[in-house]
Amino acid sequence: MNFGVIGPGDIGEVIIMKLRDAGYPVKMANSRGPASLKDLAAKTGATPASLEQVVQDVDVLFIVVPQKAIPALPKGLLKKARKETIVIDVGNYYPFRDGRIAELENGLTESVWVERQIGRPMVKVLNTIASKALIAAGRPAGSRDRVALPISGDNTKAKEIVAQLIDRIGFDSVDAGTIAESWRQQPGSPVYCTNPTKDELQSWLKKVARSSLATNRERALKAFYPTRDADYQAQIEAIDRY
Ligand SMILES: NC(=O)c1ccc[n+]([C@@H]2O[C@H](COP(=O)([O-])OP(=O)(O)OC[C@H]3O[C@@H](n4cnc5c(N)ncnc54)[C@H](OP(=O)(O)O)[C@@H]3O)[C@@H](O)[C@H]2O)c1
Repeated sequence: MNFGVIGPGDIGEVIIMKLRDAGYPVKMANSRGPASLKDLAAKTGATPASLEQVVQDVDVLFIVVPQKAIPALPKGLLKKARKETIVIDVGNYYPFRDGRIAELENGLTESVWVERQIGRPMVKVLNTIASKALIAAGRPAGSRDRVALPISGDNTKAKEIVAQLIDRIGFDSVDAGTIAESWRQQPGSPVYCTNPTKDELQSWLKKVARSSLATNRERALKAFYPTRDADYQAQIEAIDRY
């Protein structure tokens, strides 16, 4: 399999390194063009590309940009991708960073909004794990403390392929339903950045209160944001306090 990543920033870079460590070739693109990615290419082995190039001839395309950048992607960009390419939404909506987006404030599921913007069905995964945890928490299959990630989307086959990939990079997963139901894994959910095991994830997904997501997101942000540059252990302690 081969991969494209739009947005090799904080978490996009970690996704690239996890894919590289699993032996996969990766292309990457940002808004500033391939020349701006020279150092990252030397560090990760990923190939710099333009946005037009990164969507072409890949099996899986990760979109890893802040929500506010989604409408800034070139119009019709995904028309250049193959029909079978699995497109993954790693993003989250944070009003303090993205500005207020009326449809999301009115309760539209975040990935449904992203799908409408880019004009393609998507699979939502990896939005619930912080970059430091993605670096540190991978474990061999069967490990007692293996962290599990929710996967949402409307295409069952695509979700199965993504689940195999998530297993390859050291994590369990749980099918969390359709893309319309993917609010269960949005910021403010009990499964968001709390590094659950598979049993915990299955149980916690059933307990998400949609009406509390925005309030809990803002509370969690206060607890977690000061530790955003800390290591995985310090982040776990902040999450436990929250
Ligand atoms: N950081 C985490 O731990 C984490 C975990 C899970 C999910 N997420 C979510 O993942 C998304 C990215 O977060 P991040 O923390 O990695 O952000 P970040 O560090 O700011 O990186 C954003 C990346 O997107 C690129 N980008 C921005 N605007 C673009 C555009 N118009 N076209 C193409 N590329 C563009 C940026 O490159 P240029 O500015 O050079 O274009 C950069 O590579 C967010 O929605 C976030 O909520 C983050």
